[in-house]
Order: sequence, then C-alpha cells, then structure tokens
Amino acid sequence: MKITKAVIPAAGLGTRVLPATKAIPKEMFPIVDKPAIQYIVEEAVASGITDILIVTNRGKELIENHFDREPELEQRLLQNNKIAMLNEVVNISKLANIYFIRQKETLGLGHAISCARSFVGNEPFAVLYGDDVIIGEEPACAQLMQAYEKYNRAVLGINKVSRKDITKYSSLKVKSIKENIYYCSDMIEKPNKDEVMSLYSILGRCILTPDIFEILKTIKPGIGGEIQLTDALKVLANTAGMTAVEFTGVRYDMGNKLGIMKACIEVALNHPEIGSDFKKYLKKIANEI
Ligand code: UTP
Repeated sequence: MKITKAVIPAAGLGTRVLPATKAIPKEMFPIVDKPAIQYIVEEAVASGITDILIVTNRGKELIENHFDREPELEQRLLQNNKIAMLNEVVNISKLANIYFIRQKETLGLGHAISCARSFVGNEPFAVLYGDDVIIGEEPACAQLMQAYEKYNRAVLGINKVSRKDITKYSSLKVKSIKENIYYCSDMIEKPNKDEVMSLYSILGRCILTPDIFEILKTIKPGIGGEIQLTDALKVLANTAGMTAVEFTGVRYDMGNKLGIMKACIEVALNHPEIGSDFKKYLKKIANEI
C-alpha cells in the first residue's frame, strides 16, 4: 500500500532548551531563515506524502500560523514587487494538506502518536519527529518508504550513536540484511551500559503500521513517567519484526542546544545568500579561539 500520510509529533515541552521554549516551540526555531518544522514538512512532501497531521499542544499556535496564509504580509510583498519572496511565503501554505490535533496532556511520544489514530485509519504512515531535521540528497523519509514497499513491514530510521551517548537514546538489536538495511527484532529505551544491544538507535523517522495503535493502548508509562514509543515498537519488533534503514543525510537534533548550533552553522555555510560571508566570518573567529 502506498504511503501518503505522515504524523509529526510536536507537542513536547522542550525542557532541554528552556527558557526559549517557554516563548517559542523548538519545532519553530529557525535554521538561518526557515523554521525547523518546515524542513521536516518539505522532506515529507519530497517523499510523496500528501497529508500531514501535526500533533501540537497549548502554546504551539505559531506552528499553525506558519502553515496558513498571511494576507497583510502578502499584500506588502506584492506592493514592494518582492515576487520571489511572495511566492515562497504563499507556497508554505500549499505544501500539503496539513491538519492539527492537540495532545491534551504531555504524556510522551507514544501517547502523541496514539492521538493520530483517526487521521491514520487503517493505513501505514510515516512518523517524522518534529525536532529532528535531516538534510541530505535523498529525503530520509523516502528511503524508509522504499524499504516499506520492499519488505512490507514497519521500518525504523537508524544511525549509529557514540558509546557515551547511547544510554540517552534507544538501542536496537539488529541483523544485517544488505548494505544499509537491517532486520530489527528487539530494542530498549535509554539502556544502562550493560543493556546496550548495539550502537544503532532510532533517530527521528519511522514508518508504522496501524497495529501500533492497539499496542500503544497496552503500554504503561516507562522511563520519565512517559508513554514511550520505543516500548510499543519493541512489541512490534518482538512479534512481527521490523526493517531498519541506516539512512543517509545529516541529522540535527533541534531539541538540544548543541544540535541547534550545529544546524545553524552548517546550513549557514551553504546558504546561497550569506554562505560566503559567513565562511569568512567563521574562519576569522576560528583563528581567534
Ligand atoms: P523529545 O523527548 O525529544 O521532546 O520528543 P521533549 O519531551 O519536548 O524534550 P525535553 O526532554 O523536554 O527537552 C521527540 C518529539 O516528540 C514530541 C516532541 O515535540 C518532539 O518533536 N513529543 C514528545 C510529543 O509530541 N508529545 C510528548 O508528550 C512528548
């Protein structure tokens, strides 16, 4: 079955980037001149997704406004003959059919996904975490969708994490199928050092089948008192098995300070308008530190 729907969970509190997230959702942090979540929506659309549900929370209205039209701004751009920018601004609202639902209590990523049940219906769907931006030649979501079509079971987007960091992520039990494709039969969220299954972790993307919703209903709060998506995925991996794709592209975690700075610097270096000036500036200050 062709995948046309995606869910972007964006209802987290973003406590690692307070106080900024008190005022602005982390999903709206700009990477130079574009909010993080726009990169994610663009990745989904470039992968062939037509319908997107963004799971939000109180205080996240900025996200809805960003994907809406803004007549006053458009009028001003038209008057000033800034047609390229006008088109860019208008096109944001035309990227896909974008829907919103509120996660009424911040009970964890697994709970946020369960809010998508009626949107998803009985179809496989893509999940793109709202604070994970992946930039690369081939959209990461498309790489996972291809694996779904080939192996016909749920797919995880994975990459290696350092031994030092794996205890903060999920750790997967994987067996190589070919090249960057693996079979995943088990996983654990935030393992202790002696529980690490491999250095492969789920990083921001997956393709899920609708049976995940019945599994999520049975999941009790886990680490941090949250309904962990990993705990539901573990059930799926233990029973049906999952495919894991080591996707290409660079992932930027917009949920922590270092990730935000890496994203801004790397995108700025390649930016058509400011790239060369920024490179000169960066070289200059690099010599001074
Ligand atoms: P994170 O665990 O990285 O987000 O969730 P968080 O809870 O906002 O982070 P901290 O620890 O407080 O800094 C990954 C994605 O899942 C969403 C987040 O918005 C993020 O995009 N999420 C998380 C929800 O939608 N609902 C939740 O209850 C938790």
